[in-house]
Amino acid sequence: MSINEMQTLVVGANGATGRLLVKQLLDRGQRVKAILRPQAVLPKELIRSSHLSILRVNLLELDDAELAEIVNGCRAIACCLGHRMSWQGMFGKPRFLVTDAVRRLSIAAMANKAEVPTRMILMNSAGVSNRDMHEPLSRGHRLVIGLLRLLLPPHADNEQAADYLRTEIGQAQQALEWVVVRPDTLTDADSVSEYSLHIAPIRSALFDPGSTSRINVAHFMAELSVDQDCWQRWKGQMPVIYNR
Ligand SMILES: NC(=O)c1ccc[n+]([C@@H]2O[C@H](COP(=O)([O-])OP(=O)(O)OC[C@H]3O[C@@H](n4cnc5c(N)ncnc54)[C@H](OP(=O)(O)O)[C@@H]3O)[C@@H](O)[C@H]2O)c1
Repeated sequence: MSINEMQTLVVGANGATGRLLVKQLLDRGQRVKAILRPQAVLPKELIRSSHLSILRVNLLELDDAELAEIVNGCRAIACCLGHRMSWQGMFGKPRFLVTDAVRRLSIAAMANKAEVPTRMILMNSAGVSNRDMHEPLSRGHRLVIGLLRLLLPPHADNEQAADYLRTEIGQAQQALEWVVVRPDTLTDADSVSEYSLHIAPIRSALFDPGSTSRINVAHFMAELSVDQDCWQRWKGQMPVIYNR
């Protein structure tokens, strides 16, 4: 399959990071299927691209057959979903927006039994630990994370989405491989800058946070989608990304 024939499904495609990812993929000559909610907008410069197809749907309202149809032909699925910073977004339904989307898209991708494994690329957070590894956390950090887990549904959602891929998909699925991308505090920048990737956080996301520009997250997610070496380096892991 040539790079021009490869297609990536982007969910949360109109979000602050999602739209940058769509652009990064289009710039690499990829075809992109973007899922947006019905009222969402995308920048005109993206909509003009003949390589972009847009589906205006409420993802979690689709049935399994519709999801399998959407995922069919996609080499990669990139999830940039996140809860809106409103009361409804943080505490209303769907409380497990990211986990439910990742689970249902994973099942749809596996049901399609593509010849090559589908790549699931999940935008997550440096505040979420990879419990496959020993990521040392101070007592204070563990305490605050425990409170966030109880009090802040989006944090619990991010944890469960990563745990789903780590424990339920695991490392031995024939049809689906995954990477969980963990940025620290998100910032906005106009262009891609140097960034570093780590198998685990190198600083406390709570007490000494680093920063990661959304465009760098988008760049790395696009590389994971198109670049075989990058994929082989990180598949089945939860890389943490910081601006240099
Ligand atoms: N803020 C930080 O410093 C930070 C740090 C690390 C990681 N993160 C994580 O980064 C992720 C994305 O960040 P971002 O700034 O790019 O997010 P964003 O701009 O808020 O985008 C969120 C996306 O999710 C969609 N969405 C929200 N609620 C939805 C629902 N109920 N159904 C369907 N789609 C829905 C939004 O669509 P609509 O426009 O239609 O609402 C939008 O496309 C989040 O998961 C967050 O946890 C954040």
